[in-house]
Amino acid sequence: MNNSKKVFIRTYGCQMNVYDSELVSGILKKNDYSIVHDEGSADIVLVTGCTIREHADQRALGYIRQVLARKKTNSELIVGLLGCLGQRAGPEWQEMLPELDLILGPDAYRNIHFLLQNLPKKSFVEPENILEDYDDIPPLRKKGASAFIAISRGCDHNCTYCIVPFTRGRERSRPLNSIVKEVGNLVEEGFKEVTLLGQNVNSYSNNGDSFPDLLEKISEIRGIKRIRFTTSHPKDLSERLVGIIRDKENVCSHVHLPVQSGSDRVLKIMGREYTSDHYLRIIDLMKREIPDVCITTDIISGYPGETEEDHQKTLKLVEEVEYDSAFTFKYSPREGTPACTMGNNVPEPVKTSRLNEVSTLQRSITAKKNQEIIGKTVKVMIETVSKRSPEDMLGKTDGGKNVIVPNVKLNPGAFCSVRIVATSSQTLFGQLEEVLDDNGSMTN
Ligand code: SAH
Ligand code: SF4
Ligand code: F3S
Repeated sequence: MNNSKKVFIRTYGCQMNVYDSELVSGILKKNDYSIVHDEGSADIVLVTGCTIREHADQRALGYIRQVLARKKTNSELIVGLLGCLGQRAGPEWQEMLPELDLILGPDAYRNIHFLLQNLPKKSFVEPENILEDYDDIPPLRKKGASAFIAISRGCDHNCTYCIVPFTRGRERSRPLNSIVKEVGNLVEEGFKEVTLLGQNVNSYSNNGDSFPDLLEKISEIRGIKRIRFTTSHPKDLSERLVGIIRDKENVCSHVHLPVQSGSDRVLKIMGREYTSDHYLRIIDLMKREIPDVCITTDIISGYPGETEEDHQKTLKLVEEVEYDSAFTFKYSPREGTPACTMGNNVPEPVKTSRLNEVSTLQRSITAKKNQEIIGKTVKVMIETVSKRSPEDMLGKTDGGKNVIVPNVKLNPGAFCSVRIVATSSQTLFGQLEEVLDDNGSMTN
């Protein structure tokens, strides 16, 4: 009979928060807690929250309020807030939600098991050690074909809109050897794909080794079939990196390269440290050198001071690049960031209509590009059973596009060739032609 306390973790935000939840799960499991997937049975509910935009705060807040309400009937229930939101909203939310038992930022997880056992009534813990890289802590990952690995934490850029440097501190790169070793271990555990994570992977630096050095070393590990990475900052993306993506078969031909705006004036106010010309030069280089490269991006509409002319420049750039897909956002002021006090705010309805124009344009480009794939055969790595139907499986192309393969049973991690027969706005639908490895049929 297992008497250990049961922990349920709900995660919001980007892959970094997902990875943080895996780290926390790893620490807790090692200290005899059990991680459960059913919130109702948990003794402890932890919320790894994101604070990148106002909407992210509100989503986490709604959920936390709902969980805290359960304390009325279960006074033993412990509720904690972690992640970027824990760091930023900590003291304020402690006052607003006095029933929260624990609030931790991303650098303060190491002793979470201890903190949970010694909860003062209201415990808010500041990140004591901003040099934390958790290099020695194995995350507890979900079984599957694909794993996240943080290669760095924090960010040294100062984009004027962004809260991340405030929530995750200065940039720290993990030692190269330990990342390489971890990938080797993951292969032995059966993982086929890794995604290397950092706010800006291109500025990875450890004892003279750069991101291309790391990528090259990882690509040489036997058994690692696919390597992805995110995010690349356009300022630091090198020609050598493009060469590695071109030459190494297991380095995927997908680059997520957030542009944010097509206007040099706005890019300057944003503190992005590149011009649209520089950005377009990298795009040209990638398109020339990497066959079938998939390029995706992030765009912010309605930045303080953004004029109609600036907005038109963004639309023009989107048309010129022809992204495979894009995350489009309405600018959201974050307290404490320079942009928040810039003034010159774009009225809300204008922000909304600009956002709609950008996303409508991008949707039509995505649809056109997906149409062009119909009739072609692509190589897919199967990831999981499709949410749409238990008869179908979901996989990804090398470029990162989702593909539904109906009426097949394959193991996660199986490679197969699939003929694309149809497409919806974000997803391709295909027919299985051939299973390409011995990972074939589903074993359970
Ligand atoms: N480190 C990554 C991005 C992290 S945040 C990078 O630099 O590319 C992910 C995206 O959220 C950003 O690329 C940006 O487009 C968006 N974003 C960040 N802060 C925002 C804000 N205050 N308002 C709207 N969008 C924002
Ligand atoms: Fe934020 Fe800029 Fe750092 Fe990305 S590079 S996390 S947008 S400050
Ligand atoms: Fe959100 Fe933090 Fe990621 S604020 S987007 S979870 S780095």
